[in-house]
Amino acid sequence: MLLEVRDLKVGFHLLGDYTEALSGVSFFVNRGEIYCLLGESGSGKTAVLKSIMRLLPGNAEYSGEVLFEGENLFELSEEEMVSIRGCKVSMVFQEPMTSLNPTMRIGDQVAEVLEFHYGIKGKKARERVIELLERLGIENAKERYFHYPHLFSGGMRQRVMIAMAVIAEPKLILADEPTTALDVTVQSQILKLLVELVKERKSSLLFVTHDFSVAAEIGDRVGLLYRGYMVEEGLVEEVLKNPLHPYTKDLIEAIPLPGKRLKAKSITQETPPAGACPYFSRCEKRTDICRTQIPQFKEVNKGHRVRCFLY
Ligand SMILES: Nc1ncnc2c1ncn2[C@@H]1O[C@H](COP(=O)(O)OP(=O)(O)OP(=O)(O)O)[C@@H](O)[C@H]1O
Ligand code: SF4
Ligand SMILES: [Mg+2]
Repeated sequence: MLLEVRDLKVGFHLLGDYTEALSGVSFFVNRGEIYCLLGESGSGKTAVLKSIMRLLPGNAEYSGEVLFEGENLFELSEEEMVSIRGCKVSMVFQEPMTSLNPTMRIGDQVAEVLEFHYGIKGKKARERVIELLERLGIENAKERYFHYPHLFSGGMRQRVMIAMAVIAEPKLILADEPTTALDVTVQSQILKLLVELVKERKSSLLFVTHDFSVAAEIGDRVGLLYRGYMVEEGLVEEVLKNPLHPYTKDLIEAIPLPGKRLKAKSITQETPPAGACPYFSRCEKRTDICRTQIPQFKEVNKGHRVRCFLY
């Protein structure tokens, strides 16, 4: 096991209010594995990744454990975290434009990671960066190295972000919906390259997405997050073949496939009553107990866990 997240709780203080974003999330990522964390907007996916990187904003309160190679990252000093970020664990952020420095040449931004962690600089660093940019599908990388981010398209910027995340060959890469904003063909090209690099280097990938078909394409295991709760987890093919949680079933039903007629369902944004199952307001299978208790997250088949009173 490379990463284990245990009972992670995160909440945010805002304008005198406190909102819980993650209510005790637990999962693990094995070495060499691609784990997809799936959930709709606001379910807490970014909060999970930022907790692992210890990059939550100042108004956040958190508890639990994030064990990376057995070491609890929540107990490390900020200096120790700085030496881990980008080197052992790296992250591709959701917004490539705000994550790149507009005043610095893109090649230098990638090379900086090598210098910071390994002291590799000058021509040697530049050659490694150019090689990686070419590998990531950036044509004329030798010239492009010296360009500034505003000259790059969204897809190109995201390739640069991936280069920054993988150049130091980290053991774990966290990717936060890295291709969502891109058009479908570019999205699948970039995904393919990212997965190739991860496999080649025997790294692990924790990939966040709201798109089940992406998880089905690249993931070994998948975890479904709903309103800050893990509601189902298992091997991708197992969850696709035998989804247990009503939320997972609804999501799989909504995957567009050739020849499939999608049923239009109205989705309520209603907040579940306090103390109820997080899926209560939307669930067609709810019973009385679901209104007053939150089900445990438990193993139903080997490695296949679900949070629902139906099991
Ligand atoms: N800095 C913050 N201050 C206050 N609330 C926040 C903050 N960051 C996140 N939240 C809240 O925490 C919850 C989880 O947010 P998070 O960004 O992790 O969701 P997400 O699953 O990544 O969504 P998306 O798919 O839209 O990126 C949301 O309700 C969000 O409004
Ligand atoms: S516990 Fe009840 S409300 Fe929650 S998902 Fe299961 S059946 Fe639906
Ligand atoms: Mg997010």
